[in-house]
Parts: sequence; structure tokens; C-alpha cells
Amino acid sequence: MENDTISFCVQPGGTLRGEARVPGDKSISHRSIMLGSLAEGTTRVTGFLEAEDCLATMNAFRAMGVEIEGAEKGEVSIRGVGLHGLRAPEEPLYLGNSGTSMRLLCGLLAGQDFDSILTGDVSLSRRPMKRVTEPLRTMGAMVETTEAGTAPLRIYGRAKLKGIHYEMPVASAQVKSCLLLAGLYASGQTCVREPAPTRDHTERMLAGFSYPVTGKDETVCIQPDGKLLACDIDVPGDISSAAFFMVGAAIGEDADVTLRHVGVNPTRTGILDILRLMGADIQVLNPREMGGEPVADVRIRSSRLYGIEIPQELVPLAIDEFPVLFVAAACAEGETRLSGAAELRVKESDRIQVMADGLQVLGIEAQPTPDGMIVRGGKLSGGKVRSHGDHRIAMAFSISALRGGGLIEIDDCANVNTSFPSFVELARKLGLNITAVCGEIL
Ligand code: S3P
Repeated sequence: MENDTISFCVQPGGTLRGEARVPGDKSISHRSIMLGSLAEGTTRVTGFLEAEDCLATMNAFRAMGVEIEGAEKGEVSIRGVGLHGLRAPEEPLYLGNSGTSMRLLCGLLAGQDFDSILTGDVSLSRRPMKRVTEPLRTMGAMVETTEAGTAPLRIYGRAKLKGIHYEMPVASAQVKSCLLLAGLYASGQTCVREPAPTRDHTERMLAGFSYPVTGKDETVCIQPDGKLLACDIDVPGDISSAAFFMVGAAIGEDADVTLRHVGVNPTRTGILDILRLMGADIQVLNPREMGGEPVADVRIRSSRLYGIEIPQELVPLAIDEFPVLFVAAACAEGETRLSGAAELRVKESDRIQVMADGLQVLGIEAQPTPDGMIVRGGKLSGGKVRSHGDHRIAMAFSISALRGGGLIEIDDCANVNTSFPSFVELARKLGLNITAVCGEIL
């Protein structure tokens, strides 16, 4: 089912001030359902992200016979069926807009003794899936894509998987996690080597479920035949959602925002490092650990930002934050250069092209390159921009209005519900003059 049309209208100006808690981390919420379903015993989750992507994962496991209560105010209770307890779904599993659901499930389902089909919306059906199906085939999986290497994915059960040592050509936590989940069902050890560190929530959560994960440096390994033991999971706030208000406070005038209980796993904090290099005033307060994940409160105040060359090693650590980082770059003095980020072209939209197009509409010099962008800071005007149905593009352009010279209207924003359903409400509470309207503006 595709979403109805919603547009955002954002009045220029405004100041972000106050405290907020952003919704739960999307990556961790997905994994809590997956591992909780495969565990022995009941897993209780708090802080779960009740957004379309994670609900797609939840529905997929329900369709495979897992009893899941909630989500109710972020609380979910999953009655695990054990590693071999999933049942064949009666219909194809529809995963909406969610790349994480599709890529991780593909690995997990390759190891089952039943067939399954994974489908998604228009955007997900365009995204590259060979990055998971090819290494899975090397493991012995029987998986089919379209000729273009896209969904629907047909996964045939009863394959005899064998462990492999895989060198990932691109730094991708989804590929790594997919292969680790397949590795639960393979004979022998499965190891994945990443070219640069990527988010390690799967590894941390497996350990939380008492399932040993080994390896060192850039390599992570898993052995089959273990057991996942149910545990309680407290999902921290999503730093990728917090990022919009971090940039909003940094670029705005007289802003002072504290975001409580944000996940600050070092494989996710590239946004903090990049903003600091640009001159942002950011404090990480009360650092603590909750269920194996680092958490903190983050305070951001207005500051003068400067263009920088973004260090390549920070790219995978901020991969979802570039739409809003381009907005920071548009408000900075001088030029910001990003390279080594070709992955942005295969996210929910081509985030390099779509952000460059939108920034140009708003009067900013933004030059897309094959693997990045060059943005010259300037004066943002008002205008109508296209989000291409990409949640993070819609939210990034909303934030740009804090420095806009006129009304900013953004089309096709319903997919904000895939990751941050309360965005408009929370943004308004903090001081953004944003309204969601039904219908098209373009
Ligand atoms: C995710 C990994 C990243 C990220 C996505 C969530 C995950 O994708 O962009 O939003 O939960 O593992 P890639 O693995 O494709 O980089």
C-alpha cells in the first residue's frame, strides 16, 4: 500500500529551543523484533519505534507465526519461537519502504525450511539487492531477484547453507547483518570483513541475547547451533532523528536544544564529529550505557558554521544524516565538500541528486558529483522542493526553513511516517513553524 499525499509548509525563521526526546532507534527496533522472535522466551522491548518501517518487520514476523503484543507506547512483548520455530507465511511479506527489513530478512529466511517472497513499495523495489543475494548464494542460498537485481525476492527454503568469509565491497551494516543472520543457520563459521566500521547493533544485540559473536578489528564472525535467550531491550532515541534538531539548533539564531536519551553508539556519531568540525556547539551530557548501547543527552546551541572537507572515514558513521548535513553546509560560510559517499545514490531516493536539486531551487550553489556534493554556503530563499517520497529529504528541507528567506513547501512527505511519525509535532514544539497539509503542492 502506498501512502496518501501529504505536503509540508514551513514558514521561514523560528528558533529551536527546549528539551525533547526523539523516538526510538530504527535500526535497533528492527533488530529487537528479529532477534526477539528467534529467541527462546519472552523479550520485552521499551522505547520501540512505532513507525511504518519497524511495523513492517513486526508484521512479517507475525505472518510467520510469532505472537507479538504491542506496540503500545513503545512497549512490545515478543514470544520467541526459537531459531527453528518460524512458520511459512501464507502470502508474500510486504516490507513497504524498509531496506533494513528486506536485506536482513533475506539472510534470515535463506536459512529456513520454507519458501518466502519479499516485496516492497516503488522505492524499495528499485534498490539494489544483489549486494545481499550474491554473497548469500555463495553460502548456498537459493534466492532470486528480478533481472535488475531488485525485489521481489524469492527465497527457497531447505537450502544447505555453509559459512563463508566475506569481504564486503561496500561498507554496509545491512549486508553484514544479513550474512550474520544467515550464518546462524550455516554449517561452519561465517565471517564478514568490512572496509570501514559500520553500525554494530546486530553484534551488540546478539551478545545481549547470549549469542556469541567473535572476531577482531574489521572482521566479525558467528558460529551456528547456538541459542538466543530472550532479554529485555531498552531502545535509545534515534540519533538519525535527533540529527534534524541538532542541525536546526546549530543553524538557527539564539537556539538551545537538549535532546534526551539519544543513542551515541560510536558507529553512529559521525554527525556529531562533522558538525563539530564545522564549528557547531555540541555537548554530550550524562553518558551512560543502556542494555549494551551507549546513550547520552545532547545539547546544541546556535553557532557560526564553516564549510569543511568531510573526512571520508566519517561517511559510514553518518550515512543517514547527509540530507540534513547538506542543509548545514548550505548555511555555513564557505564550501563543504563530500566525496566517497556514492551509497547515498541508492538510499530511499538518490540523496545526492535530490538534495542538490532542492538546494538549487532554494538558491544555493550545490554541485552533485558521482560520489558526493560540493555545497557553497549562501542565503536560502523560499521555494517548492521535491522530496521524492524520501522521509529524510522531507525532514531536512523542513529544517532549512529556519534560515529560509520565504515559505518552503515540500511535496510527498507521507513517508516521514516510516521513521519519525511525530516529527511535525515535535518540530513545532521546539519552535519550527511547520504544518502538514493534505494534497500536492507541486
Ligand atoms: C541500516 C544500515 C544503513 C542505513 C540504514 C539502516 C541498518 O544502510 O543507511 O538506514 O539498520 O543496518 P546500509 O547498510 O545500506 O549502509
